[in-house]
Amino acid sequence: MDKLRIRGGRELAGTVRIAGAKNAALPALAAALLTEGEVTFANVPMLRDVRTMLRVLEHHGARVENGSRDSVTVQAGSIASHEAPYDLVKTMRASVLVLGPLLARCGRARVSMPGGCAIGERPIDIHLDALANMGAEVRLEHGYVEARAKRLKPADYTFPLVTVTGTENLMMAAALTEGTSVFRNCAREPEVVDLAVLLRAMGAEVDGDGTEVIRITGRRELGGAEHTVIPDRVEAATYLMAGALACRRLEVADCRPQDLKAVLALLESAGVPLTAGETSIVVARPEKLVAVDVATAPHPGFPTDMQAQYMALATQARGVSRITETIFESRFMHVSELRRLGARINVEGQTAEVTGPAALAGAQVMATDLRASASLVLAGLVADGVTVIDRVYHLDRGYEPMEVKLGALGASVERVK
Ligand code: EPZ
Repeated sequence: MDKLRIRGGRELAGTVRIAGAKNAALPALAAALLTEGEVTFANVPMLRDVRTMLRVLEHHGARVENGSRDSVTVQAGSIASHEAPYDLVKTMRASVLVLGPLLARCGRARVSMPGGCAIGERPIDIHLDALANMGAEVRLEHGYVEARAKRLKPADYTFPLVTVTGTENLMMAAALTEGTSVFRNCAREPEVVDLAVLLRAMGAEVDGDGTEVIRITGRRELGGAEHTVIPDRVEAATYLMAGALACRRLEVADCRPQDLKAVLALLESAGVPLTAGETSIVVARPEKLVAVDVATAPHPGFPTDMQAQYMALATQARGVSRITETIFESRFMHVSELRRLGARINVEGQTAEVTGPAALAGAQVMATDLRASASLVLAGLVADGVTVIDRVYHLDRGYEPMEVKLGALGASVERVK
């Protein structure tokens, strides 16, 4: 298993280019199952989870062709298998995104239950309830979801809680269902909007994406399309935190500042100087970092995917930052690892109280989930001495090689096989 060795204390500077969004690419790739036409994607991030999704699509019979650096073409001319097997789904729970497309395309789907992960139980009960509302017969047996629907019917459904992939699964199912479906209490994430852009390009009528009510008039058949994946707002925000921690001046390029309003507001209130342009943001380490409280929330609130990274920054802020996680029940796995580096954090229920500034010292730490690993990299940049992060495959799931991007800014980060 690879490790990252970081020698902290360097002052970084330069430009980092943001890749396409993992959480936009995954549903968009799954949507290619909705048509026998060819779908060509650009700005696809080269990540472990994207490679896994491409393998899932090939498993279902799609032809996958990698184009230039960040483009890929998928054509699901026919569906060879309507079953998403356990060994694929267990490596990436986002494989459940094939459920809606398979059900709409073939009238049946057999998808392994994803199982929990480090940040929580992460059920898909709402996905299933909503599909049942569209006329699917859904049964759970031997750890698999068995769903059948001779023909899905349009529905008017209210999500009992905001679910990103739940919204996306139902949008895809409705896009290939004749008639108009209305979904209420939908997720409003930019990645949901990006999926709507693709579904419209494939021929479905989609309105209200980005708001809590989405109306979709589906078709019997959808066509191929070309689609450019939006930039990854979580990667961009992660590098903004790196900038606030360790950079004389950092330009975060090829991003979409409009997707980052809550993150930019939080950083500004913490005293971080930021200048946002059309497609880039310039950030620098402030003289004085101030403690600011934050609670995660569905978009446009502060993203749960940035909670761990903000915690690393908060260890250097003057005062007590109270960080409350409202989306997942156990997304504080990074706390014990940050403590090993010298962070002063006290957890009360869903709130972590971070007291700073704390002098961090390098140590052996272990990554537990994707964003927790990013938090440890950020802390390693400012820890005195060497930090070695184990189980770096978590990081590789969602970030293009950080040692390359950080190294280009002057950081001492090396990957140890
Ligand atoms: C998506 O996960 C993202 N993944 C996650 O990013 C992100 O953290 C999460 O949304 C929240 O923003 C992808 O887009 C591939 P949810 P998702 O359904 O859709 C509960 C990362 O780091 N829930 O919005 O699985 C659930 O347990 C990953 O890139 C149900 O109870 O999250 C959670 O508490 C991590 N029943 C809450 O809703 C359901 O049927 C929000 O989950 C579905 C969800």
